Amino acid sequence: MPYLRRINTTSTKTYSSRTLLFLENDGTLRPLAIELSLPHPDGDQFGCISKVYTPSSQGVESSIWQLAKAYVNVNDSGHHQLISHWLKTHAVIEPFVIAANRQLSVLHPIHKLLHPHFRETMNANAIAREVLTNAGGIIEETVFPAKFSMEWSSVMYKNWVFPEQALPVDLIKRGMAVEDPKSSHSVRLLIEDYPYAADGLEIWSAIKIWVKEYCSFYYKNDEMVQNDSELQSWWKELREEGHGDKKDEPWWPKMQTCEELIESSTIIIWLSSAYHAAINYGQYSIGGYVPNRPSISLHFMPEEGTPEYEELKTYPDKAFLKTFTPQLQTLLGMASIEILSRHPIDELYLGQRGTPEWTTDANMLQASEDFRKKLEGIEKRIIKMNKDEKLKNRVGPAKIPYTLLYPSSEPGLTGKGIPNSVNI
Ligand SMILES: [Fe+2]
Repeated sequence: MPYLRRINTTSTKTYSSRTLLFLENDGTLRPLAIELSLPHPDGDQFGCISKVYTPSSQGVESSIWQLAKAYVNVNDSGHHQLISHWLKTHAVIEPFVIAANRQLSVLHPIHKLLHPHFRETMNANAIAREVLTNAGGIIEETVFPAKFSMEWSSVMYKNWVFPEQALPVDLIKRGMAVEDPKSSHSVRLLIEDYPYAADGLEIWSAIKIWVKEYCSFYYKNDEMVQNDSELQSWWKELREEGHGDKKDEPWWPKMQTCEELIESSTIIIWLSSAYHAAINYGQYSIGGYVPNRPSISLHFMPEEGTPEYEELKTYPDKAFLKTFTPQLQTLLGMASIEILSRHPIDELYLGQRGTPEWTTDANMLQASEDFRKKLEGIEKRIIKMNKDEKLKNRVGPAKIPYTLLYPSSEPGLTGKGIPNSVNI
């Protein structure tokens, strides 16, 4: 795509950032300060050069605060696309898909369980490698790490730990929850009104109960897991070849027990369906208006006494637009996330299967139906919570209700719906 290469005539300039948030009594988070840092010109041993900005709603200080928030968004949008989205769903799922297709017969119960969650993933990734993640492609053009995008993603893969992708484990690791056997999902949220976590735990549990019922039907004891040669070959291939860089990691489940099979299958389904949905389908509503969430910055914060600072005083909007995502990248980014955030007409959502005759085991058809009904119940609870004025984070100041983990959807740009698989 030669026209893309012509766009990149300027290099991006951004900071690393830290945001300090205060948890109010009503459960909302209020930003207190943003720290923007640059490497020390004399070397890392001197630390970094940092400046702290605080909220303001008047004069040039309010423009400075707007700029500081926009730099945070620049960092976050790059991290979101490259790490949360590409790496932690599309890229890591691929080895599971390839090894399953090579090692499990189509009649194998685990193949039947996971098959809907692998739909279109290889195709979507192939297209992504042609136009999005390739050198000079859309990702490099529209996020700040530019030509270092894939390098960043692969460095972050070094920290990827399969069992930590389980939602309860992830929430504990990020300091958002603590273990609590008395709570309904064995974890207690530290910010109770955290919509992704609250809805996510419901979905996670529904998936796990379904997977447990399914696996327990075909595997009556641990020996049956150990003696299933197809299952063992699948697990060996995805660990040793697909995720080969991590083949010696001690944290891999050994796949010797029913419990390991249930937890691992639940993680695979969670990542392919709900986690990917929460990351992907809100991108247009959050970032479609690019000044709300810029992804590139071309200039640093203006310093007092410079012409740039004077311009910020007199024409704050002009200064903002000069600093963040240029027009062509804005269009390219908007168009891309609009396509990514759209559901096709033939989308299959969590709990649905394209082939009703996928199994003849009546018990499993019933368990699958129970799972679908449970998801419908979650939908009703989400609607109810979004109307509850006490839960302020569910709607937020922009008055957009949180529906990213609402299981079903109509086609198009809806900001809701959990497709079965990573397919876009
Ligand atoms: Fe995606």
